Amino acid sequence: MSPQPQAAVGAAVPRVDARLRVTGQAKYAADNNPDGVVHAVIVDSGVGRGRITGIDTRAAEAEKGVLKVISHLNAPELPPVEGQFPPGKPLQPFQDDRIRFFGQPVAVVVATTLEIAQHAASLVKVCYDAQRPATDLAAADPAGEPETYARGDADEALDSAAVRLDMTYRTARNHHNAMEAAGLVARWDGDKLTLWEKSQATQYTAFGMSGALGMPPDDIHVISPFIGGAFGNAFSTWPHSVIAAVAAREVQRPVKLALTRKQLYFGVGYRPAYEYELSLGSNRRGCLTASAHDVRAETSRYETHIEDVLVPGRMLYSTPNVRQAYRHVPLDVNTPTWMRGPGYASGAFPVESAMDELAHELGLDPIELRLRNEPADDESTNLPFSTRRLRECYRVGAREFGWQRRRPKPRSRREGDWLIGMGMAAGVYDTARSESRTSVRLDADGTALLQAATADMGAGTATSMTQLAADALGLPMRRVTFRLGDSRLPPAAGHFGSQTMASVGSSVQDGCDKLRRQAIELAVGDEESPLHGVDPAGIVVQGGRLHVKDDPARGETYRRLLARNNRTHLEAMGSYAGAPESAKFSFYAYAATFTEVAVDARLGLVRVRRMVGVYDAGRIISPALADSQALGAMTGGIGQALLEHTVTDHRDGRIVNANLADYLVPTHADIPELKAIYIDGEDYEADPIGVKGLGEIVLVGVAPAIANAVFNATGRRIRELPIKPEALL
Ligand code: MOS
Repeated sequence: MSPQPQAAVGAAVPRVDARLRVTGQAKYAADNNPDGVVHAVIVDSGVGRGRITGIDTRAAEAEKGVLKVISHLNAPELPPVEGQFPPGKPLQPFQDDRIRFFGQPVAVVVATTLEIAQHAASLVKVCYDAQRPATDLAAADPAGEPETYARGDADEALDSAAVRLDMTYRTARNHHNAMEAAGLVARWDGDKLTLWEKSQATQYTAFGMSGALGMPPDDIHVISPFIGGAFGNAFSTWPHSVIAAVAAREVQRPVKLALTRKQLYFGVGYRPAYEYELSLGSNRRGCLTASAHDVRAETSRYETHIEDVLVPGRMLYSTPNVRQAYRHVPLDVNTPTWMRGPGYASGAFPVESAMDELAHELGLDPIELRLRNEPADDESTNLPFSTRRLRECYRVGAREFGWQRRRPKPRSRREGDWLIGMGMAAGVYDTARSESRTSVRLDADGTALLQAATADMGAGTATSMTQLAADALGLPMRRVTFRLGDSRLPPAAGHFGSQTMASVGSSVQDGCDKLRRQAIELAVGDEESPLHGVDPAGIVVQGGRLHVKDDPARGETYRRLLARNNRTHLEAMGSYAGAPESAKFSFYAYAATFTEVAVDARLGLVRVRRMVGVYDAGRIISPALADSQALGAMTGGIGQALLEHTVTDHRDGRIVNANLADYLVPTHADIPELKAIYIDGEDYEADPIGVKGLGEIVLVGVAPAIANAVFNATGRRIRELPIKPEALL
């Protein structure tokens, strides 16, 4: 078939659901009020470790409107569940008297109104036999076997290196803090369960809940058409969701349960804190000879969470000798989870800071150092890169940013009290793809409906898929509808891990191509069609009209074609198989981030003045949405670098800044001029639409670029995130 003209793809179009979102018509999980809905409020533990010795629910139960109080004393037994990373498994609520972390749910109150449930929850008295929890990563020991990786002999090569640097970096625990709180409405109809739940992946949610409740996944219907931000915490199965489903079954009414802002800090995971010991060895010319990476990561005592924190350190630069170990440090905390550039953003901070340290040590430009260590292929897998345009990212970024104006000597630019510095860092993120299907239906009125069980946590999935579909079908965008956020729709990748566009998009492309082919074949085989007998390969569709590519006057509309053939509709199922089991290439997206900071020499305050990010993310389907993603992720990176820090009181494990006043995130006043640039270049080895994914890669490299700029400004090397004013005094 002839390639379709591109009109919507690559155009800066508004979101298809913009009006719904800004006029309050978009329905989020907790906006649903099925008949008879009642409200649940969780009572959480006020100690960080120990046992419940007694629960007095009498006062709560005596309140008018209270339907039930559920705790480990009367909760139904739940099946054991499998963890994603053994050993360990997710916490099943109310199964015993043990307290594993501060804020753990110990009871739930169900009442006819939210206010009654809140009040009654405050009347539940819980007695504990409390112990001092271990919540400090720095003070605890690792457990279990480390995850390791090695090539060559790193220790020997480090010992004989002409230049050797040994550093320890630390990154803070971060919380997602999406605008929309985690929450759901659960309703039973006999044995079937409907969940209106904030979910980045409705089918994952159905599957996870089926395990937690011991029922078939097909009996669980998850509905999540709109999400008010999630950043990685809305596709695991968390205790509160199980609690809502259990409560609804117990009271035989639909139950609504939304976590409070404070409860989000204990209820839905977080970016784990890391300690990262890194040694680099190089020759005098700056060619790396060895690196050693010893990572300690926090996890809960009951469950293991692992991220790809070591990947940047093993494949970003050519290094013959590499040794890596990742050690779990189990603490009395709830389990961490994926958050904005998970793993890679935590691993890039040490690696990219260290490259800056080495460049300074050798008197080399940081870009020149990176160019000298650019690998020919992926040395961790010995696979060729599908595409890797990192050199071009450096070149374009340096030019756009004005890197040549940087003064290599630290602390050499001053404007009044402000020390000015420039820094850069590279980034990398895995190009994940997974199996996806999308149904496509073209109706006789010339409109199309596409459906897939993917999600949109706010980045604009429906819009970008509509752009793809509109061009592939030859329809204007307004005549195409893309439905998502429902587990009953054709199975598709969820909205996480930067895989949605590549995976779901490829199934959209396939489905639309199949449908267009059907229409073209119908026309060329139809004696009454002006296209009768024409070579199908020479036909394209534009504006809902099929025509000969080189003779636009010869053709007819979908509508005429379908009407004449008495067809109410055409339909096709698009599919994409996902990444192959054994890869022939190494698939990653790349970034180069450049930034200029001003540091108040007397107050230690860091202000980001401007930032330019250059991305090798494959084909960009929707430039306006890509910019929204990129600027949002840069903002998240500024938060990670300078502000975001979950603070635990290690005496009892409580998080002391569990609110949006004390957990600092960037505000508009913190965000300067940001610019995102996308390097041309599709990656058709990665997937049929040439996409590598953008959401996560942008985060990776922002924090080290800022830290490196702070060093250039002040001469102070800060190896701990966030970079706080007191560290610069
Ligand atoms: Mo992303 S951290 O996988 O939502």
